[in-house]
Amino acid sequence: MRTLFIFILALALTTGALAQNTLVLHPDKAETVINKNIYGHFSEHLGTLIYGGIYVDENSDIPNVNGYRTDVLEALKELKVPVLRWPGGCFADTYHWKDGIGPKEDRPSIVNVHWGGVTEDNSFGTHEFLDFCELIGAEPYLSINVGSGSVQEAVEWVDYVTSNNESPMTELRKKNGREDPWDVKFWGIGNETWGCGGDMRPEYYADIYRHYAGYVRGNGFQKVAVGPSSSDYNWTEKMMQGLSGKYNLVQGLSLHHYTLPTNSWTGSKGSSTDFGEDMWFNTIRNTMVVEEFIQKHLEIMDKYDPQHRVSLIVDEWGTWYDALPGTNPGFLQQQNSIRDAIVAGINLNIFNNYAKRISMANIAQIVNVLQAMILTDGPEMVKTPTYYVFKMYNVHQDATLIPMELKSETYEFNGEKLPAVSSSASVKDGITSITLTNANPNKTVAVECDINGVDFKNVEGKIITAKNMTDYNDFGKEEKVKISNFDVNKPKNGKLSIEIPAHSVVLVQLKK
Ligand code: AHR
Repeated sequence: MRTLFIFILALALTTGALAQNTLVLHPDKAETVINKNIYGHFSEHLGTLIYGGIYVDENSDIPNVNGYRTDVLEALKELKVPVLRWPGGCFADTYHWKDGIGPKEDRPSIVNVHWGGVTEDNSFGTHEFLDFCELIGAEPYLSINVGSGSVQEAVEWVDYVTSNNESPMTELRKKNGREDPWDVKFWGIGNETWGCGGDMRPEYYADIYRHYAGYVRGNGFQKVAVGPSSSDYNWTEKMMQGLSGKYNLVQGLSLHHYTLPTNSWTGSKGSSTDFGEDMWFNTIRNTMVVEEFIQKHLEIMDKYDPQHRVSLIVDEWGTWYDALPGTNPGFLQQQNSIRDAIVAGINLNIFNNYAKRISMANIAQIVNVLQAMILTDGPEMVKTPTYYVFKMYNVHQDATLIPMELKSETYEFNGEKLPAVSSSASVKDGITSITLTNANPNKTVAVECDINGVDFKNVEGKIITAKNMTDYNDFGKEEKVKISNFDVNKPKNGKLSIEIPAHSVVLVQLKK
């Protein structure tokens, strides 16, 4: 009897029948393209993101091209940034674009009231931003000032930037050195109008949106309305109601969700470098919950807009910790560890899997602020673990999503449970790419992957992992977290077994 049991157990193990973690791909159902803009970014006039991070004095010792840091420029080109949002954030609703054009010596200085009360000299304005986008090959996404601006100011900005006609604004643009208009398709009408962007009620903002959107016009414009924060379903409901009959004026509704380890906006949010498993677990839980938010907001949107004319745009997301000790708290400067890499991998997997309804996402923010891709300190620069996740996941940009069923074991801590594994898959140019995360910091997980008729000859893997769960890349030191090659076992019985080490993000590619 005992021998029979051992035999059955051995058989079950070799055939995968008892596997705890299974992933079944459905390549025959692949039809939705993952919009590359899901891999988008956000750049606000905040802390050292623009000044020092992207842009320095042309005469600076830091190597630069017309003021753009060469090292940052190169790193961002390599990252394939598809779209970049600017100038905020909260800053956008205090920004008057005419302050940032023309000879620099004539541009007024203002106070950056939201972020540290520092002087903003407007030396980086519309031309500098749009030229930067051209240099890194990103599409610009401009955020219009609704909170303290006017419809006229918005219309003139659109005219200045995108028009080919003769008008006072196009004359001004030409006088300022730019003959041809820029190609700007994405226009956000306000930012967080429920908070820093005007403290409005959704009923009021829906009308304001209709007012602005009627005047913000151009070929192929994608106009984005301010949507909810995290689980504010009432905002979504009221916005969809308020915009009903006018869905031709709105192509996207935004969602903002930040991941805080402590659930507290007022007290400590937790450290970015010094944390234990409790804060690790909370961070993973508080990021995974975005899937529930997305699903519920989409249910509301679909009720009003069954034809899916309005897509969801997650134009602010990422981790938010306490500012690094000794830094200006208004600069939102934090480190970025392997924990952030897991957060990025989980979120991008979720967004990919909702590619049918999510057309863009913008992580906050691109350099030196919150969950940044790049950190700079004077002339030094580091690429963060999050940078490497975006780089590794680039294979999904404009690829076709492969639907999947994932069954994952749980990762338990203090009596709470979360799925250990997250995943998404896509196909492009005959190459199937599967990305997976293992959020368990203590254990390797083995995933049995049924690739359902995917025809391939080569299997290749890449991994982002670290020795310790608090590891990060520091200035002047060897990188602790980066992309390395990852051995994937050859398939057995048509199944691929992938062993994902503790706290890792993995890419497996099947090539013909
Ligand atoms: O990303 C930092 C800030 O977070 C943005 O300015 C604002 O939109 C959000 O509250």
